[in-house]
Amino acid sequence: MTIVTFGLAAAHETTVENPTPTSEVPMSTAFPLLSPFSFRCHCRDEDIPAILAVHEACRERDATDPDSVCYSVPNLTPTGYARLLQDTPPEGILIAEEAGKVVAHAWMEVWGVEERMYLWQVWVVPRWRGHGLGTAMNRWGETKAREMYGDDARVGLHLANATDGERDAVTLLLSEGHHLSFVSPELAFDAFESLATVPTVRGIALRALKSSEHRAVARALSEANLNPPDHEDRWIGAALESRIDTEEAEWLGRIQSADPELSPVAWEGGEIAGAYLCRRSGRVGEIAQVAVRAPWRGRGVARALAMQSLHGLRAAGCVSARLFTSIGPEEEEPVRGPYVMYRKFGFSPIARHLRYRKAMRLEPPVGKVSVT
Ligand SMILES: CC(C)(COP(=O)(O)OP(=O)(O)OC[C@H]1O[C@@H](n2cnc3c(N)ncnc32)[C@H](O)[C@@H]1OP(=O)(O)O)[C@@H](O)C(=O)NCCC(=O)NCCS
Repeated sequence: MTIVTFGLAAAHETTVENPTPTSEVPMSTAFPLLSPFSFRCHCRDEDIPAILAVHEACRERDATDPDSVCYSVPNLTPTGYARLLQDTPPEGILIAEEAGKVVAHAWMEVWGVEERMYLWQVWVVPRWRGHGLGTAMNRWGETKAREMYGDDARVGLHLANATDGERDAVTLLLSEGHHLSFVSPELAFDAFESLATVPTVRGIALRALKSSEHRAVARALSEANLNPPDHEDRWIGAALESRIDTEEAEWLGRIQSADPELSPVAWEGGEIAGAYLCRRSGRVGEIAQVAVRAPWRGRGVARALAMQSLHGLRAAGCVSARLFTSIGPEEEEPVRGPYVMYRKFGFSPIARHLRYRKAMRLEPPVGKVSVT
């Protein structure tokens, strides 16, 4: 097991990079000797209940929605969390303990082809907020991300998420130099009693997804998402085909996690016009992917697929349907894009999920982080 410690002197040095106080408690007293925190990188399966307990302890203060289809980590089951860890890089978990009890943890996800993105999420139980713990763990993650990034020639970015309920996290991220990159509003549809009938679109037939169609649907969804409306750079010809090939496995994974009975596909003759991928968890349904290919847009195919999906979810016993989309960093007036479309379908906003980012700087952000 790797034990990670933050030296007190090192913590004091952190004010050099960012002169703005990052916490009500000065960093020099961030780790009072009377209540030392100890840190270690994951992973043991026995830690999972304690990690999930941190999320439960944060739930009320952070207004964490147990049914969110966007902010899933705090709502994972032990099995779901174990699966998440399988995809986590070594040392992509940091656990903080106080008197042998887990009081905070952090998790990293890394991705990106043209840019390298390091998402680092920190959760501190409310009882231990305001002691500099979140700031120190945030900086440790940034240091770790820089080590992983090495001398990569691509652009490196630190990313972090927060919902609008997580006011403490938002304050910390802004004070650490992050800026808002985009907002993912989560929307819900609850009006199942007054659900409109599925409109007919001339020439279009809606059918439930079949396993023999997975590959064709994956490629259609990939194509539709590569060429959204009003996008300046269009993927065409061989470049489009090659990109669809690259994305196929990822889209197949998304299709496999959908419920085929609840996922309608729109056909015109032998061609796929569009598809929605849906699933449900208990009485909450999720519309996870929505796409109509460019030649079929503007004919009401997305609306027909939405109504078909909602009828399916209602028949399956759902009382609410959820989805999320993205809008710019500032809420544009008026907001454009799929958000407007979902509002027309009767979905209402229930939360804003915020993505923060900051450029990776090559010098270490924290004086020293000693790993023994
Ligand atoms: C978004 C998308 C699914 C719309 O499909 P579509 O079949 O053209 O949509 P519809 O014709 O059924 O439009 C339904 C309504 O939504 C509106 N609408 C559709 N796309 C819109 C957009 N991008 N911005 C604003 N309004 C939109 C339409 O004007 C229409 O309104 P009306 O009923 O008042 O006339 C399609 O453009 C697409 O696949 N885009 C790429 C993938 C994507 O962005 N998916 C959503 C991710 S959150």
